[in-house]
Amino acid sequence: MKPFVQRLSIIIFVPLILSILFLILMPKETSMATYEVFGVKIEKNPSQSKLIELGVSTWPKWEGGPLKIPWSFEEEETMYILEGKVNVTVEESIGSFEIGGGNLVVFPKGMNITWDVTEPVKKHYSLKKE
Ligand SMILES: *[C@@H]1O[C@H](CO)[C@@H](O)[C@H](O)[C@H]1NC(C)=O
Ligand SMILES: *[C@@H]1O[C@H](CO)[C@@H](O)[C@H](O)[C@H]1NC(C)=O
Repeated sequence: MKPFVQRLSIIIFVPLILSILFLILMPKETSMATYEVFGVKIEKNPSQSKLIELGVSTWPKWEGGPLKIPWSFEEEETMYILEGKVNVTVEESIGSFEIGGGNLVVFPKGMNITWDVTEPVKKHYSLKKE
């Protein structure tokens, strides 16, 4: 009877403790996956429920690259990059950063960048009209 009780407690408690640890650690990871550079908000691998809530799959699609063009955001633009890689340069003297597949990115209205697609991009985008 005793070994059975011991085995039972391992079967129950080990997974229980692991799932509690998982729940404690997960929210930190997801909030750390969102950051801001030069006023641009980047979220890495947003959840499916967030993408559905935003209606990302219904947004217009853009595909292109490799190409390098100056770009002005005349409206706030939210984009979800399905695949590819872009080197975004704010100004040579200010800096650059990379965005790519799995990133949900918000560019503020009025921002000027160089959009340098280093790996062909597929993205969905949404412009915020005021
Ligand atoms: C992005 O572009 C800038 C400006 O051309 C360059 O200095 C930087 O090295 C590039 N970064 C990457 C990761 O390609
Ligand atoms: C961005 O570019 C536009 C058009 O070239 C210009 O009118 C505007 O002042 C620029 N904005 C910034 C923040 O540099």
